[in-house]
Amino acid sequence: MTDKNPASDLPAARSFAHERKMEYFEDHRALRTLISRAETTRDLRQLSPLLDELHRFLEDHFRSEEAPDGLRGIIRDAAPNRLGQLEQLLEAHRDLLAKLRNLREEVREIVDGPVTQVLRELKLLCDRLEEHEAAETRILTDSLYTDLGESP
Ligand SMILES: [Fe+2]
Repeated sequence: MTDKNPASDLPAARSFAHERKMEYFEDHRALRTLISRAETTRDLRQLSPLLDELHRFLEDHFRSEEAPDGLRGIIRDAAPNRLGQLEQLLEAHRDLLAKLRNLREEVREIVDGPVTQVLRELKLLCDRLEEHEAAETRILTDSLYTDLGESP
């Protein structure tokens, strides 16, 4: 017999919806951690890969939320009166990703440009300072131990 009783699928559907909800809670928790790391990072060189990771995460996350079995299905079943509100949130995904892409690009340009240039100059200065101090130490050491008693 090929007839199916729709009622028999109900527990499976509920269980699937429950799993999806748990996935979203878990995703949102992981996302908050990433956001917090990005927000508190003061080193632009560390921020760059972090923003790449955030972008990858958000692309997957938003895709999952927008999928046919994503957030719309859950909200339609649980609170259909909030579907309009949800649509606005889903529409904001494109804009959020675009802003993040721009920020990634800005950070990358700053890191590859001015930051790299400053670090290169810093390295040259540090090398010179070390050589300078070493030369002074040599003169001091030579003067004190080699010329001891020989100077007029
Ligand atoms: Fe989300």
